[in-house]
Amino acid sequence: MPEFVLTNDILEQLVDTNDEWIVKRTGIRERRIAKGMHTWELGLRAAERALEDAGLTADALDMIIVTTCSPDFFSPIEASVIQDKLGAKCAAMDMNTCCSGFVYASDVADSFIKCGKAKTVMVISAETLSRVTDYTDRGTCVLLGDGAGAAIYTATEETDKGILSSFLSSDGSGAEYLYMEALPVEQEPLSAERFCDPKARFLKMAGAPVVRFTAWAVPKAIDEALHRAGLTAAEIDWVVPHQANLRILDVIAKKYNLPKEKIYVNLDRFGNTSSASIPLALAEMRQNGLLHEGQTLVCTGFGGGLTYGAFVIRL
Ligand code: COA
Repeated sequence: MPEFVLTNDILEQLVDTNDEWIVKRTGIRERRIAKGMHTWELGLRAAERALEDAGLTADALDMIIVTTCSPDFFSPIEASVIQDKLGAKCAAMDMNTCCSGFVYASDVADSFIKCGKAKTVMVISAETLSRVTDYTDRGTCVLLGDGAGAAIYTATEETDKGILSSFLSSDGSGAEYLYMEALPVEQEPLSAERFCDPKARFLKMAGAPVVRFTAWAVPKAIDEALHRAGLTAAEIDWVVPHQANLRILDVIAKKYNLPKEKIYVNLDRFGNTSSASIPLALAEMRQNGLLHEGQTLVCTGFGGGLTYGAFVIRL
């Protein structure tokens, strides 16, 4: 996580909002901002810590996948920059499925490993959403933060370990509710004004339809992933959802009759960090001794696209 803490008090000075409203509607108290840092720098930090934690060196990696919807460049890709800085000699690719990025990329990593094309794949999810946030729009700026997390998947002979099932899907009919333009389409391609307008590329969101989408998409993704793994919600030790809004976490608890303690929450401290939120949560859980061998987790992501998905993993 970057060091700078953007509190609700600071936001009160930027837009017409207040701590009480933000906490009640979102559960968020503060977020981190990567001042003066590139997305790849955050991603590199996460990658180095993941390698250290796994007791591996970069030469063990067969592939690096970076998920981000807030990249530094169109070219080079983030994954190649990080591959070079790590000193890895392997395939590298970026993926963007917005806030479901970690779920999608984990499935890709798992597929490469299961079909024998790779033994060790690192997924890095890195986001600097502050660079695409409109700090005059109170409906979005209170939600978003920066951060990065990384996970390393390796081949194993043990069939009851690792990713047991996954489900990925998309409902592009809701694209307009959550979008960021990369390059504007212009009637007059030579007009420079639009390219100079930073607001043109800010993230725009219609909050209420996104809430309605998550209310059906998240349970559907969890249901499908559980069904494919042949498990019930009662057999799950942890649900690790994308940290978008406390209210959606409440929906999950109610629908699956799960105690709230089984749903990991850190959005109060980090806000919505898009694809980085699940690996950040996993890293924090690991650091705090909450993850143990043999536990079964459901990770679920949802966001721009509108994409959604989930996977079941046994540690
Ligand atoms: N502070 C104070 N008031 C705010 C505000 C803020 N930060 N943001 C919006 N409001 C106001 C609105 O202007 C509106 O005022 P009005 O009634 O006078 O028009 C009122 O609060 C209600 O707005 P609404 O958008 O209906 O609020 P909401 O209950 O839907 O909450 C969100 C807004 C953004 C918190 C909520 O829609 C949400 O969580 N959306 C999904 C977010 C999400 O998950 N996104 C990412 C998916 S990856």
